[in-house]
Amino acid sequence: MPITTCIFDAYGTLFDVAAAARVAASEPGREDFARHWPRIAENWRLKQLQYTWLRAVMGRHADFWQVTQDGLDWALEAEGLDGDAQLRERLLALYRELECFAEVLEMLRALKKVGHATAILSNGTPGMLDAAIRSAGIADLLDDVLSVESVGVFKPAAAVYDMVGARFGCAREEVLFVSSNGWDVGAAASYGFATAWVNRAGDPVDRLPARPDRVLKNLRGIPALAGA
Ligand code: LAC
Repeated sequence: MPITTCIFDAYGTLFDVAAAARVAASEPGREDFARHWPRIAENWRLKQLQYTWLRAVMGRHADFWQVTQDGLDWALEAEGLDGDAQLRERLLALYRELECFAEVLEMLRALKKVGHATAILSNGTPGMLDAAIRSAGIADLLDDVLSVESVGVFKPAAAVYDMVGARFGCAREEVLFVSSNGWDVGAAASYGFATAWVNRAGDPVDRLPARPDRVLKNLRGIPALAGA
């Protein structure tokens, strides 16, 4: 079945989640943080995601902005930097306006040119996603922004992937689901979407019940995969 609908994960896929810590580390007066930032960025992301999965299993949902702060607090404390309130505020402000990857605009334009539906499907809150989309200047290239807040549970619960068919009225096989998160793309493949894993880091494939259909280094190959 031809692809009609391209659905993107947000954090790590369209938006560069390491950018917040990287930018803060380059600012004057942050020499101490600059020594720790790669570990903090890694732990921040890891804890943020772990907390989403744990909360989903526990049935104790809190929104992604809360979970993002909780992950950051863990990561800062692990490096002994939890006393720096100004640093914390700066990192969170940068997280709300993350840079998008360089090829995002051109890729979305190519998909729109052939009339594909495009949307984000993300753990992010509507407020977080709105801020990131505005700062990246991609609002006009997206037909919709679907947040898990509509269903009150995080990925990879099937209720989240169900939002795509409910919104666009398409069959699962007509959807190309694109994510840089191996677990997200594995779950989407298991759900029945066509999938592309954007594996910028060259990581091994996650050992989950389904594997992604295609593996790409970045988003440049997405229009060709979607038949655009
Ligand atoms: C998202 C997270 C998983 O945007 O990156 O849903």
